[in-house]
Amino acid sequence: MQAAPADRAAQLRALLNHHAYRYYVLDAPEIPDAEYDRLFRDLQAIEAAHPELRTPDSPTQRVGGAVLEGLAPVRHALPMLSIRTETDTTAAGAAAFDARVRRELGLPDDAPPVEYCAELKFDGLAINLRYEGGVLVQGTTRGDGETGEDVTQNLRTIGQVPLRLQGAGLPPLIEIRGEAYMRRDDFERLNERQREHGAKTFVNPRNTAAGAIRQLDPAGMADKRLSFFAYGLGETRGWSLPATHGAVLDAIAAFGVPVDAHRRVVQGAAGLAAFHEAIAASRDALPFDIDGVVYKVNSLELQQRLGFVTREPRWAVAHKYPAQEQLTRLNAIEVQVGRTGKLTPVAKLEPVFVGGTTVSNATLHNLFELRRKGVRVGDTVIVRRAGDVIPEVVGRVNPPLQAALPPPGEAGSAWQPRPHYVPNFRMPRQCPVCASAVQRERGSVEHRCSGGLYCPAQRKQALLHFAGRRALDIEGLGDKLVDQLVDGGIVRTLPELYRLGIAKLAALERMADKSAANLLAALERSKHTTLPRFLYALGIRHVGEATAKDLAAHFGSLDRVMDAGEAQLLEVRDVGPVVAHSIRTFFDQPHNREVVEQLRAAGLRWDEHSGAAAAAPKPLAGLTVVLTGTLPSLTREQAKEQLEAAGAKVAGSVSKKTAYVVAGAEAGSKLDKARALGVPVLDEAGLQALLRAGA
Ligand code: IVH
Repeated sequence: MQAAPADRAAQLRALLNHHAYRYYVLDAPEIPDAEYDRLFRDLQAIEAAHPELRTPDSPTQRVGGAVLEGLAPVRHALPMLSIRTETDTTAAGAAAFDARVRRELGLPDDAPPVEYCAELKFDGLAINLRYEGGVLVQGTTRGDGETGEDVTQNLRTIGQVPLRLQGAGLPPLIEIRGEAYMRRDDFERLNERQREHGAKTFVNPRNTAAGAIRQLDPAGMADKRLSFFAYGLGETRGWSLPATHGAVLDAIAAFGVPVDAHRRVVQGAAGLAAFHEAIAASRDALPFDIDGVVYKVNSLELQQRLGFVTREPRWAVAHKYPAQEQLTRLNAIEVQVGRTGKLTPVAKLEPVFVGGTTVSNATLHNLFELRRKGVRVGDTVIVRRAGDVIPEVVGRVNPPLQAALPPPGEAGSAWQPRPHYVPNFRMPRQCPVCASAVQRERGSVEHRCSGGLYCPAQRKQALLHFAGRRALDIEGLGDKLVDQLVDGGIVRTLPELYRLGIAKLAALERMADKSAANLLAALERSKHTTLPRFLYALGIRHVGEATAKDLAAHFGSLDRVMDAGEAQLLEVRDVGPVVAHSIRTFFDQPHNREVVEQLRAAGLRWDEHSGAAAAAPKPLAGLTVVLTGTLPSLTREQAKEQLEAAGAKVAGSVSKKTAYVVAGAEAGSKLDKARALGVPVLDEAGLQALLRAGA
């Protein structure tokens, strides 16, 4: 039976206040934002239908959280407003806002489009920076919009926040408002470190940034790299404001404060919708989280005419994207074996739409983190997927809290009691793939299969890594094929890849003669590589792309890398004891040396000095080369790499300054242009000669 509206409203108020406290005051939310928003909308709907139920303590009547004890309260010179959210995540949301603005301005239908400034909606903590005489004197949080907290000390530690503004024409007083946030890579790095130390990991970049800025001890900022983007103004004195918001942002950028480069001045609803769509397409590739975009009427004069409703300006709106955190059910926990034998518990989830895709698997990282999160099969868990980062289970809905949530089945419910005892997850003692013993080094949080390349899972991963785009770039060697090759016992070691014949390949499932021939051609092409790629492709633990490049640059030849002692390895930039030990251990294993020798025997070759960036001569320095069409044996990547290693610049279009155009089969307009401009044209043989001889 549905609860009476008054009871349900009271229940929602209590819930929302609890969550607002967790979120704003403690910076430790228990449910995803999307879930909070759902409860909030439920309450708004009830209050809209029954206005008499609207109470002064309703979260719908309030903005933000309370002032923390310990941080000095600061009354804002101008209130820090919030923005209305357009919940319709389709293009219609943009049109609705534009229509409202036009109506409120009393514009006739045939009036020209309104100009807007469209920006990203950064997911961090709103900050007010006060500069007097160009010097940062105070930084505050938004607090409840009227009164914020003094967090100057912590903000000073953010490199992106200028302590002094730059440029001419600085106003005697200016408050710059914007968002302090954490980049995804900084967040991943922080959590990686936490995991390595078996310490508690952080939930998401936003809460980490907010928590860091509001902590009492600025020393806690040291391990957290935060960033900042300005998006508006507070109080100003002695400054004649530009005419548009876009120009204000340009001025702020000129003062030396970071302003995001994605901002655009656009015309009308169509311009807004196009912006929304373009940003949606690139959202995953952004280095930081956004939860939507913000549209602002560009003219400050029109902004003034539009004014405010309570604490929200009529001239701005937030247009959201699908949430990056959602609740779902944890159906099972499986264990996957990675390339280096690491066992990873993987959550099998009830499929859920998160951050724009449907997620049904998410990592739980390791046993210790899984235990700390306390998740068990059957629990309702929070799943996060942001950008290209692998989806992860962040935690579960807190059990004491579950009791306070509305019963299952009711709208907005997150309540899923454990129906019966569920045993805690254990790591298997034997590898789930090859049954070798599972081991854990002292002090490490990782469990590993001890089977090495005997373990098919590790063999598969090793092959996939070897063939990867940034390793030997063997096109067509994907996971389906690797599964067949390994499961069929056709390929057991890396060198065996190069012994594959057309007959064996064409007999495989989904392999026609043509694709088999393509794969063989790709294998052939991959033989001509570079030392950094080869070192990376071997899959030595802790040797990523950057380390492989550094090793190649330092030692110049594979033999020298293989024979280097740990002390010599430590001389390489960014190589520490763990990495040095791992490299030494790898090459101390006779079977690894054998793999290397067999690969060389199979015809793998590289220019021994191609990685020696600093030491190598640059015979083609200063030359610009353009590649077009398909070369008979080199991929475009390989040709580019070799040219760049020789110091040439590889450009995308032909001009009078182009030194050479290298043209392969089906070269198009670039070749025509080269001929028209009289630029010399080379084929692959010509390119090889150029690389050998220099210019
Ligand atoms: S403008 C009067 N622009 O979103 C308008 N806010 O409720 C004041 N936010 O927590 C805000 N990106 O910190 C504005 N490009 C942007 C923003 C942005 C993120 C945050 C802001 C506040 C919330 C607005």
